[in-house]
Amino acid sequence: MSSPAPPAAWSPKPDAQIRPMHTADLAAYKGLRDAMLARHPEAFTSDYETELLRDADSYRSRLSGGNGGHCLFTLLAWVGPELVGAISCEHEARLKVRHVAHIVGMMVRDDLHGQGLGHQLLSRSLTLLRGEAVLELVTLSVTSSNTAAIKLYERCGFQRHGRLPGAIRLADGRILDKDLMSLRLHS
Ligand SMILES: CC(C)(COP(=O)(O)OP(=O)(O)OC[C@H]1O[C@@H](n2cnc3c(N)ncnc32)[C@H](O)[C@@H]1OP(=O)(O)O)[C@@H](O)C(=O)NCCC(=O)NCCS
Repeated sequence: MSSPAPPAAWSPKPDAQIRPMHTADLAAYKGLRDAMLARHPEAFTSDYETELLRDADSYRSRLSGGNGGHCLFTLLAWVGPELVGAISCEHEARLKVRHVAHIVGMMVRDDLHGQGLGHQLLSRSLTLLRGEAVLELVTLSVTSSNTAAIKLYERCGFQRHGRLPGAIRLADGRILDKDLMSLRLHS
């Protein structure tokens, strides 16, 4: 008996490898980041035109320990030789806020959306953050209309604690709100 055909939206989960970013990955990281900034101006605070002018080496700040220790890590998702996703976690060294980490630069290549890669990147990051004794809280901000990202963050336990009206102004004149979300790492 033949097996039933998969539904139209079905696609196999990509067999992704997730690992920390190294110096040799910086050019690929810039390539993915620039493409995502160009395609999703509403999702990011950085703008494509400015970031395009940065060289790949400037993203050393996103390696573990980069930017004077502010960057905890950047995780990359690879499918074969192709970089398809990234997420970065940062924190400040100042004593009163060193228990707070921030998630930034979350992205998955468009053709692989909805297949669980974002969830894998975020889950792996939260596992790493839970292993850092000093950390207690993780925050992020997300454009209020970004349903896919908000759904993902909520599934991983983040809750909205506020909204910043008019947080970003796009080149086309749109003004968008950002939701501020947080997660207690050990509750
Ligand atoms: C947000 C993003 C990283 C999610 O990555 P992803 O690999 O698609 O995430 P997942 O496959 O793990 O899916 C997360 C959830 O969103 C849903 N989803 C995915 N794409 C969606 C879409 N276009 N519309 C609505 N929901 C969507 C998934 O079904 C899933 O929901 P579930 O947990 O109920 O199954 C990705 O969409 C992306 O890179 N978007 C552009 C950049 C961006 O918005 N970055 C976030 C900045 S804060």
